[in-house]
Amino acid sequence: MTQDASLFVLFGATGDLAQRMLLPSLYALERDSLVPAALKVLGSARSALDESAFRAHVAESVRRAIAPGELNDAALDRLLARCHYQPAAIDDASALAALSARIAMLRGEGDTLVHLSTAPRWYGPICDALAAGGVADARMRVMLEKPIGHDFDSSVAINEAVARVFREAQVFRVDHYLGKEGVQNLLALRFGNALFEPLWNSRFVEQVQITVAETVGLEGRGGYYDESGAMRDMVQNHLLQLLTLTAMEPPSHFDPGAVRNEKLKVLRSLRPIEGDDVATHTVAGQYTAGAIDGKAVPGYADELGRKSRTESFVAIRAHIDNWRWSGVPFYLRTGKRLPRRATEIYVKMRAVPHSIFDGEGARPEPNALLIRLQPEERISLMLMNKTPGLDRTGVKLSQVALDLDLHDAFANERKRIAYERLYLDALQGNGTLFVRRDEIESAWSWVDQILGGWTARGQEPKPYPAGTWGPTSALALPERHGHSWRE
Ligand code: BG6
Repeated sequence: MTQDASLFVLFGATGDLAQRMLLPSLYALERDSLVPAALKVLGSARSALDESAFRAHVAESVRRAIAPGELNDAALDRLLARCHYQPAAIDDASALAALSARIAMLRGEGDTLVHLSTAPRWYGPICDALAAGGVADARMRVMLEKPIGHDFDSSVAINEAVARVFREAQVFRVDHYLGKEGVQNLLALRFGNALFEPLWNSRFVEQVQITVAETVGLEGRGGYYDESGAMRDMVQNHLLQLLTLTAMEPPSHFDPGAVRNEKLKVLRSLRPIEGDDVATHTVAGQYTAGAIDGKAVPGYADELGRKSRTESFVAIRAHIDNWRWSGVPFYLRTGKRLPRRATEIYVKMRAVPHSIFDGEGARPEPNALLIRLQPEERISLMLMNKTPGLDRTGVKLSQVALDLDLHDAFANERKRIAYERLYLDALQGNGTLFVRRDEIESAWSWVDQILGGWTARGQEPKPYPAGTWGPTSALALPERHGHSWRE
């Protein structure tokens, strides 16, 4: 039976992610009294820190992440009092045995949550070491950071290695997009309102666009990114997760089994993109030097320090072959060094079947729903409205947006780091917002086919200047079908 965690173990506790996101998230939960009372935190990494140096590291990470004047010192002290540290190089069996012994000593009456924020190739060996140390029992669960593998085969290998030690229900795979408020709100919007569901299908929806645009470049992560590219880094996980939540059938409950079953059905209904479709349904790009917000930025190869064939941009015209979505294109687009940061889902409806207005300026535009997740959360419903005024030539129409600015509507709510939600759920043992093994593997097989198609055709990424919306062929992708990207 799942219980609240009484020990949280963080592998990779001195890493970049821990400093920027993970430790500040733990602090935020502490400040809001959302941490189980008995919880102890055990950090582990290669560095030979002692306990007080680790506490100083936690305090510094929190201070750096929290705006000055907003820090609650008492909460930080409470968090620090929970913290312990055990150094361990992951390739050092005796250090890992000592770590297991420490876990056994600290774990207390509740469950133990282990977060593996290390290179994925270590997930299997760490799980084996925990098993050898006698602590990988039914009271332990593990959180795995992305990427789970580099392709289908390597993801199966990692999942298999973890599965030799833990049952699937004990494995919590992170996609941090699922921890974002706006992403969860997508479910609230779809399934908390009766208004949208009857229209949410191919009869009324003409096309869907999912965009995750970033202005940043390699951010000093060239080594990792160049091995991955936009397809593995963003499409395989974040974009496909957004697609599943947009397209899935209503689950019977908001619980891990029901939600993940429906997401999986969407992934399994994705039409494979193979053969000539690779060229006509996908575009890969790589940025060259350009400007963003009036500031000159270098090209990908300059940032990396060498030439590369890795894509920093992907656009795809995808189809979901099921009753609900038959014939509706889902345009997916993501890239680095695009003109602005924006994560959004745009659902464009079909035109009215017959227009009763026929004067100049009276053509009704199709309705559309825009769900903006980043940088601000907002929902806009585009409607046609009579342009006010008297006119001899008849009714004129203009499009207006019914706008819901969620920051205004919930002005007293603090903007949270996605990991706050994920940690809260994982500490309690709720896996709804984590990704199941079959979802990950399904997503990889769809993505692998496209990557394989690119390799087979020798298709190289097309250049696009930083600060533009990708290569020109990305514009042509919807235009060939009479559609255009929302800018
Ligand atoms: C990560 C990718 O998973 O998501 C990064 O590895 C990307 O390349 C990041 O920048 C985007 O996340 P967010 O939360 O800033 O939209």
